[in-house]
Amino acid sequence: MKIKKAIFPVAGFGTRFLPATKATPKEMLPIIDKPIIQYAVEEAQQAGITEFIFVTHHAKRAIEDHFDENIELLEKLKSDQKDHLVKQIQNIGGSTSRFTFVRQDKPKGLGHAISCAEHMINENEFFAVILADDLIDPLPGNILKDMISISMQSSKQVLALEKVSKQDVSKFGIVSTTKNHKNIHTLDGIVEKPEENIAPSDLAVVGRYIFNHSIFALIDSKNPGVNGEIQITDAIAKDIDNFLGYQFKEKRFDCGSKIGYLKANIEFGLSDPKLKVELKKYLKGLQNL
Ligand code: UTP
Repeated sequence: MKIKKAIFPVAGFGTRFLPATKATPKEMLPIIDKPIIQYAVEEAQQAGITEFIFVTHHAKRAIEDHFDENIELLEKLKSDQKDHLVKQIQNIGGSTSRFTFVRQDKPKGLGHAISCAEHMINENEFFAVILADDLIDPLPGNILKDMISISMQSSKQVLALEKVSKQDVSKFGIVSTTKNHKNIHTLDGIVEKPEENIAPSDLAVVGRYIFNHSIFALIDSKNPGVNGEIQITDAIAKDIDNFLGYQFKEKRFDCGSKIGYLKANIEFGLSDPKLKVELKKYLKGLQNL
């Protein structure tokens, strides 16, 4: 069993970034010089994904354009012999990759967004779902590669887990676990956005999932859950025995929030060979304020 397809739900309104996201998709905001969505696509490509399926809406054309060829720009860079820039804009995601765009009519929730791509996945096929605004540091490893390997070895679906503080549990889907071996958790429950006092643990599900086609039959598009949205958590809860949780070691930046986005820019800047010296100097100077 190989996992070759990844779904990227990008049809949300990104209201926390208004007015920046009025006409520009949140996923096109850059961390240094690369849009958030490109980090996610590169992560998937390095994990062996070759089919990239975006669940999008009409105001997100810029994402489609970003992964399409820009022939005029390419010709210009080639004739100016700017080979390093040619490399930057050619074959993003790999030369054998396939990009498909499907529409979600209204942002009815993550579960609904994923179900919009059902026709792209074969019966019994395993696939990845990536929320690009959860930017995961590509070092030391590749979280998606690890999750794919756990899924292939166990034939189970896999959720990415991160420990969160008690006051943050009400922002996430929270799992209850029975066993933990080498950061792979056996699960026996999941609840969406629980109050602090009833949360089953402090392990939150964040933006990486490995699903099987069987998940689609469990997404109930007629009965919304928490916040009036079709939640993927409700579908997962119905089949929790067929899921494992993977508590990954890489650092996650919540780029759907302003503070997470700022932190990502600073940390990626601090590890950029061309920027780090000057940025460090600047930040140290600020500490003296
Ligand atoms: P968010 O909860 O971050 O929602 O969705 P949002 O609309 O993007 O941002 P805010 O909260 O208004 O600022 C998590 C991910 O799920 C996708 C979003 O695009 C984002 O990648 N999503 C969410 C959909 O594709 N469709 C939906 O109906 C809901």
